[in-house]
Amino acid sequence: MEIDQSFHLFPEAASSIAGQVDALYAYLVLVSAFFSLLIAFLMVYFAVKYRKKNDELPAPMDEHSIGGMVLEIVWSVIPLGLSMVMFAWGASIFFTESRPPADSMEIYVTGKQWMWKIQHLEGAREINELHVPVNRDIRLTLTSEDVIHDFYVPAFRTKTDVLPGKYTTEWFRPTKVGAYHIFCAEYCGTKHSGMIGTVYVMNEADYNNWLGAGSGEGSMAEQGESLFNQLGCGTCHPSAMNKQNGRCPNLSGLFGTTVDLKDGSRIKADESYIRESILFPQAKIVAGYDDIMPTFKGLVTEDGLLKLVEYVKSLGPPNGTQTPAPPAPTQTTGTSVPPGQVGRGATPAQGNR
Ligand code: CUA
Repeated sequence: MEIDQSFHLFPEAASSIAGQVDALYAYLVLVSAFFSLLIAFLMVYFAVKYRKKNDELPAPMDEHSIGGMVLEIVWSVIPLGLSMVMFAWGASIFFTESRPPADSMEIYVTGKQWMWKIQHLEGAREINELHVPVNRDIRLTLTSEDVIHDFYVPAFRTKTDVLPGKYTTEWFRPTKVGAYHIFCAEYCGTKHSGMIGTVYVMNEADYNNWLGAGSGEGSMAEQGESLFNQLGCGTCHPSAMNKQNGRCPNLSGLFGTTVDLKDGSRIKADESYIRESILFPQAKIVAGYDDIMPTFKGLVTEDGLLKLVEYVKSLGPPNGTQTPAPPAPTQTTGTSVPPGQVGRGATPAQGNR
């Protein structure tokens, strides 16, 4: 699959939201063009029609004329209506784009100067390439190792800031098999313009083939589990069901639940909460526990953190039932990045900070 390099006024529309974004854009352009032309025409027309002739004086204005009032209301209400349509329509698209569907396929993206690192739950990793199946809702969880980047796929009409120290999300539903540009849309240093990549949208069978090629390192959750053990988290945090040791909260079935904190507040155990608890354990202490956990800041890379988050997620949804990890890839050929080339977050000793 090659990116279509021929000239287009518009990028290809290759996602479920692209048509809506284009329609809104067309509306904005048409409204602006209509009023620009109308005003330009009237300026010329009135300049000619009401130009000063000889010593003629203009007719005095009738201050109580009802016509003037009607005109004022009309030219206020019509633009108000047109701009409220822009607002409501734009807000509706914004809300659609900011709420990933619940059953979306998850992929993790880490931006760094100047590349995109992608991790699939099944374990496959890539750099500056993102392979996705067509007609599936895809949810990206994005973070940055250094400065602010912005993950932009024009063909999908979607872009999201990628921030250091924070997880953001972006979702799309590709509708056309093909290859499309990824750009960084936030100036991030010397090689910002080179921080580009390609999304490959494949049909389901091709995608599964590609995924099967895998990294040979196991799923993200499995890699997260070995990192969890290497860091010694398991010596305190029981991860088995119904096990308590009294000193550290049990992580089984934690993800997605609401946690009671020592200060009386409550928080949802989401990706950001897990990340914060690893790097800044003292920030939110769970009710009934002491502030005894050391920070792992500097010991785990962003890639490693994502694996740990994925491991905690795999320890069970709120109802306590275990979700099996995705099947480990078996083949060893393919286009994905070989192990060792990326994501040195697997062991703290190799941290690339
Ligand atoms: Cu990364 Cu611009």
